[in-house]
Amino acid sequence: MIRRLNAILRRVPVWLVWIAGLAPGLWVFWRGLNGALGADPIRALELALGEKGLQLLILSLMVTPLRRLAGLNLLRFRRAFGLLAFTYIAAHLAAWLFLDMAGLWDQALRDIAKRPFITIGMTAFVLMLPLALTSNAFSIRRLGPRWRTLHRLAYAAALLGGMHFVLIGKTLTARPLIYLVLIALLLALRLPAPRLFRAGAAKSLR
Ligand code: HEM
Repeated sequence: MIRRLNAILRRVPVWLVWIAGLAPGLWVFWRGLNGALGADPIRALELALGEKGLQLLILSLMVTPLRRLAGLNLLRFRRAFGLLAFTYIAAHLAAWLFLDMAGLWDQALRDIAKRPFITIGMTAFVLMLPLALTSNAFSIRRLGPRWRTLHRLAYAAALLGGMHFVLIGKTLTARPLIYLVLIALLLALRLPAPRLFRAGAAKSLR
């Protein structure tokens, strides 16, 4: 079953992932232009872009565990997932800055400095910048092993992105908490296994 799925995935071109990834964002933008986003279209656009960005960031973190634990190989698409996540988060930030805060630059700066959920979101965005800028073959070659270390920033960005969502509401709701727990689990899977467990796992692999 997984083998068949991997065989199908090998034939999927990366550009198709880009089109499928960008389609929901363009669709919500189109609905906004046509007055189909309800009473507060700017907020609806902002929220849709933020959530899609978070989902794609999580998807990019799921690639390695999915391969290790289930044998599903999405490695070819990981860079597209990460860059799509960045595109959505950049659009989310742009929607907030240019549509929601339009012209209120002082207020925007005050919010970034003083409202914890915005400070955290902005920190996550800043951490994603070097990742987006170095997600190309040239940087991978140039940075060598440092590239991998740099790309660990994705873990912090995801954690901060999840915290940003949890902190938005005045009361705790299920959706943001589910995202945060999923992110925490994905990060926990990357922690080095305790010595005892590693010894056991090595034996069971022999
Ligand atoms: C990794 C970075 C980020 C992620 C993953 C992210 C994700 C999200 C999510 C999931 C939501 C809520 C969506 C919903 O309620 O359906 C949201 C809302 C929001 N985000 Fe972000 N965001 C990020 C960065 C930023 C940045 C950089 C800013 C601005 C500086 C920002 C400002 C906001 C605002 C103002 C809201 C709406 C709050 C409200 O009115 O309820 N976010 N974000």
